[in-house]
Amino acid sequence: MNIKLLKNDIEKKQFDVEIVLVKNIKNLNKKEKEILKEINFDVKSSDAYFHTNTKKLFIACTVLKKEDLKIAFSTAIRTIKKFKFSTIKINLLQDKKELNIQDMVEGLVLGNYEFTKYKSENKKSKTFKILICTQNSKEDINSLNKKLQDILAITSSVNMVRNIVNTPPEDYYPQIMAEDAIKIAKRDNLECIIHGEEYLLKNQMNAMLSVGRASRHESKLIHLSYKPKEPKGKIVLVGKGLTYDSGGLSLKPAEFMVSMKCDKSGGSAVLGIMNTLKALNCQYEVHGIIGAVENMIGADAFKPDDVLVAKNAKTIEVRNTDAEGRLVLADCLCYAQDEIEDIDYIFDYATLTGACIVALGNQTIGTMGHSNKLKTKMQKAADSSGELIGVLPFNRYLPAMIKSKIADITNSSSSRAGGAITAGLFLDNFIKKENKKKWLHLDIAGAAYSESPWAYNSFGATGSGVRLTLDFIKKLDK
Ligand code: BES
Ligand code: ZN
Ligand code: ZN
Repeated sequence: MNIKLLKNDIEKKQFDVEIVLVKNIKNLNKKEKEILKEINFDVKSSDAYFHTNTKKLFIACTVLKKEDLKIAFSTAIRTIKKFKFSTIKINLLQDKKELNIQDMVEGLVLGNYEFTKYKSENKKSKTFKILICTQNSKEDINSLNKKLQDILAITSSVNMVRNIVNTPPEDYYPQIMAEDAIKIAKRDNLECIIHGEEYLLKNQMNAMLSVGRASRHESKLIHLSYKPKEPKGKIVLVGKGLTYDSGGLSLKPAEFMVSMKCDKSGGSAVLGIMNTLKALNCQYEVHGIIGAVENMIGADAFKPDDVLVAKNAKTIEVRNTDAEGRLVLADCLCYAQDEIEDIDYIFDYATLTGACIVALGNQTIGTMGHSNKLKTKMQKAADSSGELIGVLPFNRYLPAMIKSKIADITNSSSSRAGGAITAGLFLDNFIKKENKKKWLHLDIAGAAYSESPWAYNSFGATGSGVRLTLDFIKKLDK
């Protein structure tokens, strides 16, 4: 999508369609009022109407900000796609209000996304030229342009993550994820270390190593670091990058296995965040650590009843090989805290449990941790970024459910009750004392992937976690 800011208004012959938001028909000009009254346009029923003569696409939008605005522009661009238009005009001033350019562009770019890589040539989506006329803006064009560039960096990372997650497991396996990390590192001058299975073996990362053992793809621990001069602090992001989760020997039933290419969403979100830091001129040192692994079956598969020793020497009784994400994350969290000193924030991102979807639905990220202050901070980033989070509370009783009779802990609780929280509590075993209050676990199992499109998300991956985290980091400066 090609988006340009213009200082002045443009003539009708210079565009194919103009997007006009309607909050209140009363605020429109006389001609527009007539047009909409004639067709009985209803602002409350999210109507869209294209008027040929004036080239105006009227989109109902009762609130001209934030999520409502993003959804309205997403509806607009999806409507326009059905026609043969290519140049689109938008006035920054709509219905007597100056719109937030970032919400507008976010709705356009995210709403326009479709995964077409595997469609024949004629089914691919077209590119649009969008002209935003700013003649009535109170803000000068340079500052508007800066905001535009920032949101383009963020939304293109979200779409990059969507592409990665939507890519089938045959084409996207740990080595490919590592190569993507290397590409980002080269472009933005980040450090990038890729550790293979030999390293995992040498460093007693037996939990992560076991999960990938039956795969024909070598597991990779990816470590990206962004290090600005005189950083204001240190942030560590750890992602579950299961490029496929068949369940392992505790094999998933057929209907639950479909879509498990989405199990790399946490690691992909970490890639997406790392992909944006330089463009946003981030002042924090940020480490992105991804456990890229494929969970398969075979003669070499790890088994229920195995006892694994993690990097911090804790022993884990495997009772279900489908609870593999926490095994990979356990070692990655240990690695992060062994390698990186003086951490200010440590977040992990994982499509960890079906229980999280049962608890919170398909839109909301389950958030767990020991610090209420940190959870509140993350809630603020959620409120302004538009991503939804819900806190799932730890308590003193639930840890009993992951006790093991023969090892330090078990990877699968004896009961399904509180499954998202017991998974979070499992990870807590791998957080060092000094980092307890700096840690948040984000279960994105519901929010990362959905087969029913919602808001400005299309079928499949949503890019969950990217906007939330970048917003969190941005707020640290304030
Ligand atoms: N990757 C799944 C969780 C998942 C489910 C993600 C649905 C996205 C959509 C995870 O590895 C898993 O299978 N978890 C088990 C844990 C159980 C065996 C303790 C689950 O949620 O059933
Ligand atoms: Zn699993
Ligand atoms: Zn999984």
